Order: sequence, then C-alpha cells, then structure tokens
Amino acid sequence: MTDTRALRSFIEKATQDRRLIVVSNREPYVHRKQEQDIVWEQPVGGLTSALDDVLRLLGGVWVAWGSGDADRRTVDRKSRVRVPPDQPSYTLKRVWLTPGEVENYYNGYSNHVLWPLCHIALERVYLRHRYWEDYVSANHRFARAVGEEVESGTMVWIHDYHLALLPALLRADYPDLTLAHFWHVPWPNFSVLRVCPQARELVEGMLANDLIGFQVSHFASNFMDCVEKLIPDAEVDRERAIVSLKGHETRLEAFPISVDFERFHQMASSRRSQRFMEKLRRRLNLAPDILLGVGVDRLEYTKGLTKRLQAIELFFERFPKFRKRFTFFQVAVPTRASEPYIGYGKGVQALVRQVNQRFGTAEWKPVIYTEAKMEHRELAALYREADLCIVSSVYDGMNLVAKEFISCQTEEKGVLLLSEFAGAAEELDEAIIVNPYDLESFSESIRDALAMGSRERRKRMRTLRERVSAADINTWIRNIIQRMSDLASARSGGTAFLFRDIEQIALQDLFLFLDFDGTLSPIAPTPEEARFPVHVQKILNKLKKVMPVAIISGRSLEDVRSRVGIPDLVYSGNHGMEIWNGREMVRQEAGDISRLEELVEELIRTFRDIPQVIVEHKRLSASLHFRKVPPKKLARVFGRFWEVTRPYDAHFNVSTGKKVLEIRSKEAWNKGDAVTWILEAIAPTRHPVYIGDDVTDEDAFRAIRGKGTSISVGRNPEADYYLENQDQVGKFLEWLYLRTLFFPELAGGQGN
Ligand code: UDP
Ligand code: G6P
Repeated sequence: MTDTRALRSFIEKATQDRRLIVVSNREPYVHRKQEQDIVWEQPVGGLTSALDDVLRLLGGVWVAWGSGDADRRTVDRKSRVRVPPDQPSYTLKRVWLTPGEVENYYNGYSNHVLWPLCHIALERVYLRHRYWEDYVSANHRFARAVGEEVESGTMVWIHDYHLALLPALLRADYPDLTLAHFWHVPWPNFSVLRVCPQARELVEGMLANDLIGFQVSHFASNFMDCVEKLIPDAEVDRERAIVSLKGHETRLEAFPISVDFERFHQMASSRRSQRFMEKLRRRLNLAPDILLGVGVDRLEYTKGLTKRLQAIELFFERFPKFRKRFTFFQVAVPTRASEPYIGYGKGVQALVRQVNQRFGTAEWKPVIYTEAKMEHRELAALYREADLCIVSSVYDGMNLVAKEFISCQTEEKGVLLLSEFAGAAEELDEAIIVNPYDLESFSESIRDALAMGSRERRKRMRTLRERVSAADINTWIRNIIQRMSDLASARSGGTAFLFRDIEQIALQDLFLFLDFDGTLSPIAPTPEEARFPVHVQKILNKLKKVMPVAIISGRSLEDVRSRVGIPDLVYSGNHGMEIWNGREMVRQEAGDISRLEELVEELIRTFRDIPQVIVEHKRLSASLHFRKVPPKKLARVFGRFWEVTRPYDAHFNVSTGKKVLEIRSKEAWNKGDAVTWILEAIAPTRHPVYIGDDVTDEDAFRAIRGKGTSISVGRNPEADYYLENQDQVGKFLEWLYLRTLFFPELAGGQGN
C-alpha cells in the first residue's frame, strides 16, 4: 500500500485507540481439508478483496462465518485464528452456523431473496418462510459473537446484506457502540423493495446504525425513499441525509469503494508479472500480435456474462476484419454453488462454445474461457497485457475489476468498456460506457475500443489512472474511519459532525437562537450574579450583521435585554411569553396571570425563614431558585412549595429547570411556541439553529425538529448535537463568525 505508515498513523489518531471490529458473512480466509492436510484459500469477491487490505493494515478483529470444512480445526477456544495464515496481522473470529442456517440464511434469504432483490432481478427472487426464520437466527448468532468481542467505545463496522438485522440486535444490548454498515450492493428503490414482505424489519434493523455507507449517493436516496414509505414514524432529512427514528439518528453517505492502486500497479510492473504473461500467452497459444480482451468475474448472473458473449458474437459477425486478430479471455470463477448459478454457468459455457464453433479456426480461438480462480498477482499481469477489459454488469454496486484493470495499465494502452449499470461508471467517465442490453451498440463499442488510436487510449487511461489513484482504497478507509471516529466522539461529547453539518448550510440561510443562562453565560449561584462574557457579546454583535440572532430566555424580557446589552437583537423573555422584535414588544402570551401576584407574595412569606431560597417575580411568571439551599433543607423547601402552590393547580403549571422551579400560567407560551412564531414572522425560510441547556429549551428543540439544528449544552437526547459547556458554545459562535470573514460582503464590511 502507498504510504502505509501515514495511513496507519492517521487511523491511530482518528480512532484514538478505540477497538474496531469488522463483521461480514464471508470470511477472508477459509481452511479446507485436502487429503491428510489442511490448506487455506481466499474466497473470491469484492468484499473480502477490499477488506483484507484494510484489516492487514489496521489489525483488529474480523467476525465472519466459518465456512470451510477445516475451519474448526484451526481456531482456539474462542473460535479465533490469526490471519493471513502466512503473515498473521489480525484476528479472524469465526461464527458457526448449522447446515440448516447455511441453507436458509445464506443460500436462501441472502442469495435467493436479498441478492436478486438488490440487483432488480425480481424473477429470480425465491422466498420461503424458513429462509427468514433462519436469517433472524443467524443474525442473532453474529450478534452473540460480536458481543464477546466488544468493549466500551468499540466501533463495529458491519458489511452487506447478510446482516441487516445485526445493528438493531447489537444496539439493544450495547447502546453505546458506534455502528457503521457498508452496503456493498445496490439499494433498490421502493417499487422493488416492496416485493419483500420483511422490508420494514430490514430497514428498521439498519436504522440502528449510526452510519450507513453506500457505493453511490443514488442508493442512499433510494434508501431514504424506502424509509419514508415503510416507516411513517421516521423523520427523513434529505438535505443532510439523516434519518431519525425514536430519538436515534442514522447518517447516510456514499463512500465509493476502491482498490489498492499502488499494490496493483507494483504487481503489474514486476518482472514476475511479465514472465507470467509470457508463459500464459504461450499456454493459450496467443500470437504476439493478437489483440487481447479480458473479463474477470464471479460466474454471476448480475455480471452480464451472457450479454457480453452475445455482444462479442455480434461483433465478430459484424466486423469480420477482427477475426483472428482479437481473442477474448474470460475468467469466470464459480460462486454460490447452487441454482440458479449452476444453470447460468451452463448457459455461459454453451455461448462460449457457440462463438468458438461459429468463428474459430484451427489456429485461433475467439473466446478462451476458464473457471479457474486467478490470484491477484496473476490478474495484475493479465490486466496489464490486455488491450481491452469488458465489465458488462447488468447491475452492480461498484465493480472492483474495473478499477483493478486501470491500476494495472502501466503502459496506458488498454481501453475499459464499462456498463452504465455498474456503480463504477459514476466515477470512470473516460471508459467507453455501454448499455449491455443494447447489443448492436455494445458490439460497436468493442470495435471502437479496438480501433481507437494509441494517443486517445493513452489520454483516457492516464486520466482514469489519476482518478483511481486519487480515490483508492486508502481514501475509502480514511473517509469511513474518519466518519466513524467522528460519530464515536460525538457519542462521547465531540462536535465534528456539528461543524460539518452546519458548514453545509450557507451563512445567510441561518437563524441563530440562543438561550442565555447556562448557554451564553455560565450558571451563577444567583440570577443576579450571572455575567455575560464580553467576547461572546462582541461576536454576537458581528454575527447579527449576517444572520438574525434571537435570545430566548427564562428571564423577564427587560432583564435579559439589559444583560445581553445588544439592543437590536430579537428577544424572547419569560420562557417564550414575551417577544421583542428588535424595536418593540410584538407579542405577549402569558395566559391568565391574575392570581400570580398573590401566589408570589405567599411564596415570599413562606420562605422568609430560609434566606437561600430566592423567589423571583418576573411579571408574567415566577421562579423559585434553590441553588444555594443546603441539601438537608431541600425536602422542607419542596414540601412547603407544593403545599403553597396546590390551591393554584387549576391556573399554573410548574416545571423544573436547573435548581429552579418555574411557575407559569397554563396557557402561557413556551420557548418552542416563541421560536416557531419568531421564525415564521421574521424569516420563515431560514434554517434555525437553537442552542440551549435547560429542560425548558427542549420545547424549542422539538419545535425545530426536522426544520433546523438543535444543540444542547451538555448531553440531552432531545437535541441533534451537544456542546460540552459555555466555553464550547463561545467557540462555536466564534467559528461561525470566522466563517463570515470569508464573505466580507455578507457582513457589510464589518470591521469590529
Ligand atoms: N477475483 C480474483 N480472482 C479471480 C476472479 C476475481 O481474485 O479469479 C477478484 C477480483 O480481483 C475482485 C473481486 O474478485 O477483487 C471481484 O470483485 P467485484 O467488485 O468486481 O465483484 P463482486 O464479486 O464483489 O460482485
Ligand atoms: C459480493 C457481495 C459480498 C460477497 C461476494 C461473494 O461481492 O457483495 O458480500 O461476499 O459477492 O459472494 P459470496 O456469496 O461467495 O460471499
């Protein structure tokens, strides 16, 4: 890998020693019996190809199904084995499935239901109830195995469609884990997913994740559509790609998977690779001047092998001058040894025979076909040598072969023909993009590729190589690990996501709402002693030029206005009952307070002998502060308080804040009402950002849910984010202010 040390140190910093556990159905190393011996091999597939590189680098634990017939003989008592077997660098923990589970969960629900469903091959969906039952039980088994490995703060990175229920199972038992799920295959749109009777359970299972990664953004958008249709309780914030369900947020993001460019490039450049190709050419009887095309796939119906061979047949039919000048070498490794794969394989073999019989000669074979698996270093040689590589998937999450081919094109002479239905097509514009269903055009594209001048080939391939090397597997790992770490920190007080998400919104679209005590000003022993930090005042003075700023306080309007000292902000006092629009009082919604005076006087009388109790009459409401009351007197204070207020129950509500009891008329507006009104009256299209620390701020958090961003000071599950303390609030405001400096025109030439 490129710059392994830099990547490792980045990861160490990002993860801050948090444990990382990777979970997938397929294991990276399989042990098999071979006569008296045990041998090991690497299964074929994009998931294990990509993740083995990641784990080699990171270390950690990979939990996966032990599918080999000698797997049990190579593990310890905890079902663990160090891998790669020849160069141990991480731990593989195997999960044992019963033969019934393999049949129903793996072959059945995973391969016969979810795989064709995700690849829109609805005719191939075959669903039995026992498949689902064992899908559930196998997901439970994975959950137990992961449970044996987790510790506090662990980040669990789940992979693919076999494990859609695992996130919810883990979340139920270990609420503080950071869970990310990478979905390697396409996520279908709702009109396809609705075919599945368990669609809702699957989506709900996935929504226990903190992060779901997709190959391309289109799949994330399909996922949001499905959530909207299937789970009416969930809130979908499309702009920020966040789904909230029962107070839990799941972020959706595209992370296009890639390959280790440098490793493939090195393998392709080696002398060994050259020797391998010379040998292969001799073995295959390929004359040096024969143009070589390659295809490398699992023998998989979604890879469009049938379409590819039909297009090749048509190509030789329509463009005879390429006969005897071009040979196509197809590697098709058998996969998922059951139907419909066996039948599909027979169809592919028959087509190969048909093309060869129709056009082949004694000394030239149009298509050379092998089902033998090739190692990456052999593939690297083949990719380098090839003049053409065809990827013709009828639907594919990404397709790594396309990127491997590019990485190995050291001489920049080959052309990539790439299906528009592979995720890779979104990034690789300089390939010749084909629709595998349109056979005439497909066959012409093969002709165009082979006839393309060397300058054009080089130009295209150079750009493709730049692109893959700039966004290789390292980028993929970095981006995902960074996001997971941000989320892990957010769970424990970090703010990385807050800043990232606010950054997406233009400054001139924001509307800032701030609570005062405990948010802008540190909590003081008595309300009188609260001080407003001067530097925060300065920042607000500047921010108000770029966005409306409202102070929403429990204090009386007059009090809070004079403490903040910036006359032309919007203010709301008395927990939302009074609103000042910057020039005048525009709203007063206190409800019936005719008996407030009387109640306040009674409270003052009652607590005359406990001087630490402060009764505050705020004209439209009242508060009783007990911050300074010694703990042993608290019971007495509460007892008396309830006794005095009981006769007024029909008129007033009492709510608790931080060491304070708030008394308000039953019809009085709360902070949520005030925020809703202010937003509507002043700037209805702006994105509200509300920062508050107290229970009464929760009304405001709820009022802007789905419309804006709520931030609590200290943890509060009602808010979208939280900042640790008032200092961090100050820093956040300062950061907003610094952003305005990049847009002086916004701030109207602000100087100070
Ligand atoms: N592969 C391999 N040997 C083979 C054929 C394929 O190692 O003989 C690897 C190939 O190099 C690639 C992976 O299998 O890394 C296939 O990944 P891709 O994303 O193209 O498709 P998937 O199989 O995941 O659907
Ligand atoms: C695709 C899937 C992987 C799977 C691989 C091989 O790449 O996304 O999850 O591992 O195919 O399939 P298999 O059924 O052999 O694991």
